[in-house]
Amino acid sequence: MSLVVFGAVALASCSNDGGVATERADRIQSVAEDATTDPTAEETDPPASQPAETDPPETVPPTSGPRPTLPPGTVPPQTDPDDTDPEDTEPEETDPEDTEPEVVESPDGVGDPLFPELGNPGIDVEHYDIRVRYDPADDEITGAVTLTLVPTEAREQFTLDSSGPEVSSVTVDGDEAEFEQEDVELRITPATPLEPDKAVDVVVAYTATPDGGTSIASLPSGWFHTDEGSYVLNEPDGARTWLPSNDHPSDKATYTFRITVPTGLTAVANGALISTTPGPEGDEWVWEESVPMPTYLIQLLTGDYEVVTGEGPDGLPLVSVVLREDREAMQPFLDSIDDQIDFFDDFFGPYPLAQYGIAMTDSTGGLAMETMSRSLFSREDFLRDDTFIEELLLSHELAHMWFGDAVSPAEWQDIWLNESFATYGEWMWMEHIDLVPLEAQADDALQTKLLFGESATATPGVGELFGYNVYDGGAVVLHALRLTIGDEAFFSLLSRWVADNLGESRFTEDFVQLASEVAGTDLTDFFDEWLFAEVVPEQFPEPAAG
Ligand code: ARG
Ligand code: ZN
Repeated sequence: MSLVVFGAVALASCSNDGGVATERADRIQSVAEDATTDPTAEETDPPASQPAETDPPETVPPTSGPRPTLPPGTVPPQTDPDDTDPEDTEPEETDPEDTEPEVVESPDGVGDPLFPELGNPGIDVEHYDIRVRYDPADDEITGAVTLTLVPTEAREQFTLDSSGPEVSSVTVDGDEAEFEQEDVELRITPATPLEPDKAVDVVVAYTATPDGGTSIASLPSGWFHTDEGSYVLNEPDGARTWLPSNDHPSDKATYTFRITVPTGLTAVANGALISTTPGPEGDEWVWEESVPMPTYLIQLLTGDYEVVTGEGPDGLPLVSVVLREDREAMQPFLDSIDDQIDFFDDFFGPYPLAQYGIAMTDSTGGLAMETMSRSLFSREDFLRDDTFIEELLLSHELAHMWFGDAVSPAEWQDIWLNESFATYGEWMWMEHIDLVPLEAQADDALQTKLLFGESATATPGVGELFGYNVYDGGAVVLHALRLTIGDEAFFSLLSRWVADNLGESRFTEDFVQLASEVAGTDLTDFFDEWLFAEVVPEQFPEPAAG
């Protein structure tokens, strides 16, 4: 059995899958594994250095039947499915209360059960103004971030998440503040204590050395240097390695990015391009994201990019970026955006953000991330003429704009609200373009979920955040829900979820409640059986009448 550890929607295989799809999965896996150990070094390796058996197959994947999508971190690594003895793995009566992890108290975190030190009590950031200078040649980030924050209580001291940046000064409303740099916190004591509800501007000046590393969720995260530039991959906790911030998805804010790069290079961030201004230290690129987002959705790229603008359905501004050398090769993917948005908005409601686009970076293959309003992909995955992977990645990340970006998880354990939904969107698209029928996809995923039912979809551990039961195993839960309440209620639930919660962060419990409300029936038992259970029913429910 093999696992994918880099990109979330990359493929892996397990012993009950075969043929082309397995090879495909292995191939991605091999680059992914290398990337995990040293993503930067990997980029200089020619693809030819990959073992022969991981070479891309020439054939197209099966157009029907089960798809072996086992995302990263996925299946329990030590388990061989053949050895799985239901007696051994059978959990006791599933009670959602029992499966809840113990909350480790951290005075400097917001009480996330999986990441107790993330987030910072007593503050609510409304806006980040991020000023960064970066030259890929010397690899040093010189930054100053202004956080406009509203204290939620009176405080003499507060913290920001920061693990890596070297801070040189902090001011609060223009006055020098005392600060201490601890392991993962920047502790700030303003000259005047914070008053509840009275917004202040906190300016933190710092330098950082990009050290794209591995997050506590065992995935590459942070700021990565590439041959000609850089990219960031923050989910779940990489932002704090290069940006002092409130690095938790419960705190969403709007953003201005002012990134200075040597003349000739392009700097890219989320949202709309506001200006490009030449200066003594290079060109300053200003980007603005107007819809509130968490830190983990930040996009920040530098390199030889071309910005390609266009118009999507209903006049939606499209802003994509591709490396100049890839301009032509990427045109088909730029052209495909329209149809995908058009397809999803019939089911999920109007596209929820101010713009969309795709960014094709020069990372190792296997990277795909729903960075706010412009999804991030690895060029490598799109230069192989592999329709299956291309369609899967593009549709998955686009679906995230509704699920994850418009509405974000309130805690990391609510991650299925992102990944299960994006995976379901991906299934819908793959069926729509006649690649894989949704029923087949769902049946296969249910079988796999039964084999590898390690953790309930709603309660992954840190190592399972991007695992099977959150991705395809969670899409199974959504499919069961759809069958239970019927198409009409199911899709009105999904669009209500987005429309009602746009710009917010929500808990699993909020979704469960809305589901019962929209369906007009108490779905507690359904969710106990499918979402909170480690072992789910062996068969999908009979489709609801009507
Ligand atoms: N959210 C991404 C996706 O589904 C996965 C990101 C995994 N995180 C990471 N640091 N590689 O599409
Ligand atoms: Zn995803």
